[in-house]
Amino acid sequence: MRILGTGSAAPKNVLTNQMLSTMVDTSDEWIVERTGIRTRHIAADDETALTMARDAATRALAAADIPASRIKLVICASVTNELRCPSLACSLQRDLGLPEEIMAFDINAACSGFIFALITASEFLKADDCALIVGSEVLSRITDYNDRSTCVLFGDGAGAAVIESSDEPLSWITTVKGDDQMLMIDDYIHMDGQAVFKFAVETLTRSIRSVTEKAGLTLAELDLIICHQANQRILASASKRLGVAMDRFFVNLAEHGNTSAASVPIALDEAVRAGLLHKDMRVILAGFGGGLTSGAIAMRWS
Ligand code: ACO
Repeated sequence: MRILGTGSAAPKNVLTNQMLSTMVDTSDEWIVERTGIRTRHIAADDETALTMARDAATRALAAADIPASRIKLVICASVTNELRCPSLACSLQRDLGLPEEIMAFDINAACSGFIFALITASEFLKADDCALIVGSEVLSRITDYNDRSTCVLFGDGAGAAVIESSDEPLSWITTVKGDDQMLMIDDYIHMDGQAVFKFAVETLTRSIRSVTEKAGLTLAELDLIICHQANQRILASASKRLGVAMDRFFVNLAEHGNTSAASVPIALDEAVRAGLLHKDMRVILAGFGGGLTSGAIAMRWS
C-alpha cells in the first residue's frame, strides 16, 4: 500500500484549559501535567462529522492528484456521525462526486478506526485501485462537560488519506478484547481512566514491537511512529518501555487533544505537511481505544 495524499480539517473554535477550568473543577496545570493537552478544536453548530470529513477528504484528493474515477472504495471511521444511515462514507461519495461503481461504508473501532480502515482497504484493493480512508469525529457532542475526568481529553476534527495498492507489503497487527466496562459510549463517553491508561500503554508497546518484528525490522530502524494521540504520558511510557526515543514519536495532542478515529490521520497529515516523511522511511501507524481495540501498521514511505 502507498499513501498518495493526506488531508485534515479542524474546527476554528478552540477550547483552552483555562476555559475548561471555569466549567469544572480543574486547572491548566493539572491537565498539562497529567495529559499534555493544552487546547482542543470544537465544532460550531453548523460543523459536523460530514462537513469536516468532506474538507479533509477534499484536501487528501487534491494532494493525491488522481482522477476520482480511480477511487474504488471509501471507508470512514467514526463514532459520531449524525445519522445512522446513510453512512458518512455514502454521504461523502455524493458530496465529492465520486463514482457510483464503488463500495462505501463506515466502521466503528473507536480510536483504532482509521487503522482498521486502512488495513481493510489495503487487503481489498486490486492493482491500480485507490481508496479514500477518513476518520472524522465531533466528540464534543458526546462529551459530558460536567465530568472533569473526561471533558478535558476530547476534541473534534477529521483526517483523510488516499491510498493506492502497491507491491510493497504492508505489515499489520490488530487485537480485539470485547469489554464495555473500561470504555463505553452511550449518550456520553464513560471511561475508567486508569484502567484504559494501563491497557493503552501495554497494547501500544506490544503492537509496535510485534508489527516491527513482523516487518522484519528492529525498533532501532524505525524513523517515525505516529500513534493515536490520547495522552502524552501514554506515549512517553511506550517510548520508555520500547527504548525508542520520544523524538521518533510524532505528537500533536497539545493542540488537538484526543480526536478518536481522526487522531492518527490528522497526525499523519501534519507530519506530511511538516516535511517529516521522506522516501524509504520506516513508519509505524498505531491506534488503540474503545472496543477494546488496537492496531498497528508498519510501512515504507514511498
Ligand atoms: N482536573 C483535576 N483533577 C482531576 C481531573 C481533572 N480534569 N480529572 C481527575 N482528577 C482527579 C481525580 O478525581 C483524582 O482525585 P483523587 O485523588 O482526589 O481521587 C486524581 O485527579 C487522580 O485521578 P486519576 O484518574 O488517577 O488521574 P490519572 O493520572 O489517571 O489521569 C486520565 C486521568 C488523564 C483520564 C488518564 O487516566 C488517562 O489519560 N487515561 C487514558 C485515557 C485514554 O487514553 N483514552 C483512550 C481511549 S478514548 C476513546 O476510545 C474514545
